[in-house]
Amino acid sequence: MILVTGGTGYIGSHIAVELLAAGHSVVLLDNLANSVASVVPRIEKITGRAAAFYQGDVRDAALLASIFEQHPIDAVIHCAGLKAVGESVTQPLAYYDTNVHGSIVLCQAMAKAGIKRLIFSSSATVYGVEAIPPYVETMGRGSCTSPYGTSKAMVEQVLEDLCASDPEWSVAILRYFNPIGAHPSGLIGESPQGVPNNLMPYISQVAAGVLPELRVYGNDYPTQDGTCVRDYLHVVDLAVGHRVALKALETPGASHYNLGTGQGVSVKQMIDAFTQATQVPVAFRYAPRRDGDLAAFWASVEKAQQELGWQATKTLDDMMTDTWRWQQHASA
Ligand code: NAD
Ligand code: UFG
Repeated sequence: MILVTGGTGYIGSHIAVELLAAGHSVVLLDNLANSVASVVPRIEKITGRAAAFYQGDVRDAALLASIFEQHPIDAVIHCAGLKAVGESVTQPLAYYDTNVHGSIVLCQAMAKAGIKRLIFSSSATVYGVEAIPPYVETMGRGSCTSPYGTSKAMVEQVLEDLCASDPEWSVAILRYFNPIGAHPSGLIGESPQGVPNNLMPYISQVAAGVLPELRVYGNDYPTQDGTCVRDYLHVVDLAVGHRVALKALETPGASHYNLGTGQGVSVKQMIDAFTQATQVPVAFRYAPRRDGDLAAFWASVEKAQQELGWQATKTLDDMMTDTWRWQQHASA
C-alpha cells in the first residue's frame, strides 16, 4: 500500500491512477491548497478502484501517525508542496515551511512508524544555473535562482543525510523536467489557479479563448529559433516513472533519477506542435525575457533507462492532444 502526499494534485493524481491500475492499494493525503476533492472520484472512475483520501496537511504529525496506524503503508510518494517559482520569491517562508519543514515532519512520522521507503518529487532546477545540458545525475547541485528551487535542493540534502545516518532508509529522488499533458480520459489534468505561470496551460487557455494571447518570453536566446528550450514530458510517462521507481526502493540508500525525454523543444516549436496536433491557432507575441529563465536544458535519460527500465513513450503530439482534451473539458 502506497501513501501519495499531494495526491489530488496534478502529478499525484496521475500517479494514483497508475498505481491503482497496476494493482497497488493507495492512500491519498492532500490539504487541497492547490487541488479539489472531486479528483478522488475521478481517479476511481478511470481505474474502477477506490483510493482512501485524507484531507489534511503533510506538516500534521498526528494525522500522519494516525494514517500510518490505520493503513499498512509500504512506501510514501511525496508530491505535496508549493510549486510556483515566482510566488516563492515573494513568500519564501511559506515555501520553506511547506516544502522543507513538511518533508522533515513526514520523514519523522515515517521513521516513528518504521516506514523507510520514500520517493521524492524533485526538480531539474536543482542542477542550478551553471549546469550545461544535458543534465546528468552525476553533476552536483548548483545555485538555484528561487526559494522554490532551493527548497528542493535542501530536501534532497536532508534525504541524503537521512540515508547516510540509517541504512534502513531507501529514497528515490526523482528530478522532473517539464511535465505537461493530461490523462487521455480527459478526467484529470492540471488546473492552475488564476493566470497560469507555465507554458503549456497558457497555450491551451489562449487556444480556448480564455486568455487573449501568449507572451513568448524572449526570442534572442542562443537557441535554434531564439526561444527557450526545455524537456517536456507527458505526465502519464512521469507517473509510470514513479511506479517503476518503487523497485529502486528495494536497494537501501539515496538514488537520483532524471525523468525527462532527453529531447529539447523550443517555445516556438511548442506553439507549432500544439497547432499541428489540434488545428487550433495560438495567438502570440514576443516579449522581453522572464527573470530567472535559463536558455536551454534537457535531461540525460540513460540512468533511468538502465536502472529502472523506464523511458518516456508518449510523443509531443500526444502531449498536445491530451492537454487540449483536458482544456476543453475544463472550460466546458
Ligand atoms: P500541484 O500543486 O498540482 O500538486 C501539489 C499538491 O500538494 C496540491 O494538490 C496541493 O494541494 C498539495 N499540498 C500543498 N501543500 C500541502 C500541504 N502542506 N499538505 C498537504 N498537501 C499539500 O503540483 P504538481 O505539479 O502536481 O507537483 C507535485 C510535486 O512535483 C511538487 O512537489 C512540485 O514541486 C514537484 N514538481 C512539479 C513540477 C511541475 O512542473 N509540475 C516540476 C518539478 C517538480
Ligand atoms: N514561457 C513563455 N510564456 C509563458 C510561460 C512560459 O514564453 O507565458 C516560456 C518560459 O520563458 C520558458 C518556457 O516557456 O522558456 C517554459 O516555462 P515554464 O514556466 O512552463 O517552465 P520552467 O522551465 O520555467 O519551469 C518548470 C517548472 C518549475 C521547475 C523548472 C525546472 O515550472 O517548477 O521547470 O524543472 F523548477
